[in-house]
Amino acid sequence: MATQDTQQERDGGAATAENFLSVTDNRTGKSYELEITDGTVRAMDFREIKVDDDDFGLMTYDPAFKNTASTRSRIAYIDGDAGVLEYRGYPIEELCEHSNYLEVAYLLIYGELPTEEQWGAWEHEITHHTYVHENIKKLMEGFRYDAHPMGMLLSTVGALSTFYPGANNITDDDEQRMAAVRLIAKMPTLAAFAYRHNLGLPYVYPDNDLGYAENFLSMLFKMAEWKYDADPRLARALDVLFILHADHEQNASTNAVRGVGSTQVDPYSAVAAGVSALYGPLHGGANEQVLRMLDRIGSTDNIPDFLEGVKNREERLMGFGHRVYKNYDPRARIIKRHVDEVLEVTGKSPKLEIAVELEKRALDDEFFTERKLYPNVDYYSGLIYEALGMPTEMFTVIFAIPRTSGWVAQWLELVQDDEQAIARPRQIYDGEREREYVGLEER
Ligand code: ACO
Repeated sequence: MATQDTQQERDGGAATAENFLSVTDNRTGKSYELEITDGTVRAMDFREIKVDDDDFGLMTYDPAFKNTASTRSRIAYIDGDAGVLEYRGYPIEELCEHSNYLEVAYLLIYGELPTEEQWGAWEHEITHHTYVHENIKKLMEGFRYDAHPMGMLLSTVGALSTFYPGANNITDDDEQRMAAVRLIAKMPTLAAFAYRHNLGLPYVYPDNDLGYAENFLSMLFKMAEWKYDADPRLARALDVLFILHADHEQNASTNAVRGVGSTQVDPYSAVAAGVSALYGPLHGGANEQVLRMLDRIGSTDNIPDFLEGVKNREERLMGFGHRVYKNYDPRARIIKRHVDEVLEVTGKSPKLEIAVELEKRALDDEFFTERKLYPNVDYYSGLIYEALGMPTEMFTVIFAIPRTSGWVAQWLELVQDDEQAIARPRQIYDGEREREYVGLEER
């Protein structure tokens, strides 16, 4: 930032209004020129705007970061108005059509799609790190029979840090790479163990002959058979869901990973923070809430009453609305196509009929169109998970599996970014000051 004078000096006397924001502080009459880069001004530039030398300087106030960019990133691009999502420049639609989740995970972590040789090494490495230490299994056995699997997942991901203390060396290339491999490889194992625990079934170990999605389905559903043979259509639908959930720039859980990671804690602990954030019903928990909502509605006849409840703010239409998308979430569009394919294998779902009708009526209703509320990724994903035989408690857990590659990619970007420091916002203090302590007997 420059005051008008110094900026004029920099420009050889010719003040240019271009790419600068002119600000006049009416408290002092002083003018300032704030540089605009990439459509942003730097919040720290406002600190120079003071009434006198003792003044702290102006701050920006932005609860919930509704208009604050916290980082530069090269991982995911979103155009919320146009409904566009790209990973490392590749449109999500192209990746869903031609790629697979593990390849996309590589793309997110390394920035490029793998060559054939890199792909072979990556797939081999992920496949051979899917096992967890037996003590992790014992730790899981300690949970109550009805423990929410997301609670189990977040504890065990955090616990991984104690098994790999070398990961504390967060700037070491090999440690970074191994943490990325281990987290992506072990997440399905932890998720499946949590599921089997709830059912009181023996945990199924990973099968190195199977692909990423097939292996996960095997760890969930294998019983006495020699090999679990997943229907390829179901495995593919799950893989597409994994691609769609892999990253979504600075969403709440990624922000949690980055915020906690900024303390230079190990990546397992940072990712555990992401799992916690994802657990919330306004974030990853929304798909679980969508199914509960469809259950509550019960029949298409009850949709008008339900929508009245939403408009009267007694209810929220779960799976609708997004902080960034003010258009149809492109991920929802792709998932919707796969719902039919999955139901072809597993049989019809009465909830799908309610979901489709509810979407149609909401999109015809001014309340939703005025607010640009469209289905988000969670609106239809729960229907696929349910068709695959997952209990609702597992939905968020399944979301966490692919989001791990996004969290790790974002964590890597964070630790390699010289501009980043410990994330520590400011506050506006609204409370009492300098009160005199009153003893208990006198209160
Ligand atoms: N149902 C009814 N009204 C809604 C909904 C909804 N699902 N979402 C937003 N609105 C209304 C708000 O009440 C508000 O109305 P107002 O201006 O009259 O007060 C307006 O739309 C703007 O909404 P905000 O809450 O300001 O939007 P914000 O960006 O803060 O919230 C969020 C986004 C949390 C996703 C919200 O849309 C929501 O709660 N949706 C339901 C939960 C959900 O599906 N979450 C999954 C998101 S995707 C993901 O995390 C993977």
